[in-house]
Amino acid sequence: MKNLSRNFFLFLSQNQTLNKSAKRWGWKLGASRVVAGEDINSAMQAVQQLNEDGIMCTVDHLGEFVTDENEALKSAEYCIKTLDAIVSKNVDCNLSLKLTQLGLDIDQKICMYNMENILSAAKKYGIFVRIDMEDFSHYPATIDILKKLRMKYDNTGTVIQAYLHRASADVEALKGIPLRLVKGAYKEPPEVALQKKSDIDNNFIHIIKQHLCNGSYTAIATHDHHIIEKVKKFVQENNIPRDLFEFQMLYGFRVEMHKTLAAEGYRFRTYVPFGKDWYGYFMRRLAERPQNVAFAFKGFFSK
Ligand code: FDA
Repeated sequence: MKNLSRNFFLFLSQNQTLNKSAKRWGWKLGASRVVAGEDINSAMQAVQQLNEDGIMCTVDHLGEFVTDENEALKSAEYCIKTLDAIVSKNVDCNLSLKLTQLGLDIDQKICMYNMENILSAAKKYGIFVRIDMEDFSHYPATIDILKKLRMKYDNTGTVIQAYLHRASADVEALKGIPLRLVKGAYKEPPEVALQKKSDIDNNFIHIIKQHLCNGSYTAIATHDHHIIEKVKKFVQENNIPRDLFEFQMLYGFRVEMHKTLAAEGYRFRTYVPFGKDWYGYFMRRLAERPQNVAFAFKGFFSK
């Protein structure tokens, strides 16, 4: 049953026709509980509030799988506008983005051009830019682009998904680069990814320890309290300094834990998505946990 609902929502997340109509629907289905708003101002308001609780943020102007060059250029301009807003509002926040939003599916050169413009602006402002990791069909190109960009820009890093068989090898190859480590949100075949939850959890802990022991800055992005407890124990026992890592969670999920971890003195960052193109993001959250469906619809019916 759990797998059925996961597959169903992952299927919906990749359905372009539904995605287009979803843009017209606006705020139905309770997405507004987990998306900070439709424009930069609402995102900045959410960030300011979180900053007041000692929580750092990363904002993501939602969008993916862009197939039109102009749309990709506009996305890049919007990312730069978002960087401007971070600076003008003087908030503790960096930027997350997806390469398919910037033209990866059209032409790698367009994507590189957009990324260079964004990273130049971000570098000028001293802001870090995280390249989110998408499904495996985009994985090799994302790693390749990251490596090229890192030759010129030190203010960027990416995400490694623990469900991938190649996760540990890639963490080793990307030693020294700030990585966000996650379990992985897409449906991937057994040839590419681990399928059993316990195997994914074990590999997640393994790559977290690996990157930390390599002395590389590590963002541990999870809502799983079991994983968080294990990390806390490991860093304490191994004298890993607290400025070498941060915990991250998504906006709207387990919000009390965001505050608690920040109050305990851990570096903590909330991932704040915003924008009209919330559909794919929202469907992946529904796929992750059947309970999220109840959570979202509770929001829908309470409006
Ligand atoms: P998981 O869903 O495995 O849950 C484990 C346990 O934790 C549950 O059984 C429950 O006990 C508890 N739990 C989890 N959520 C809870 C909740 N809401 N309330 C109460 N208990 C809860 N993926 C990707 O492929 N590419 C990316 O770039 C990113 N980026 C990213 C950024 C950030 C900040 C986060 C937090 C996550 C991502 N992800 C991602 C998503 C990630 O890969 C993964 O799909 C989700 O985080 C779900 O896995 P978890 O580790 O959170 O716990």
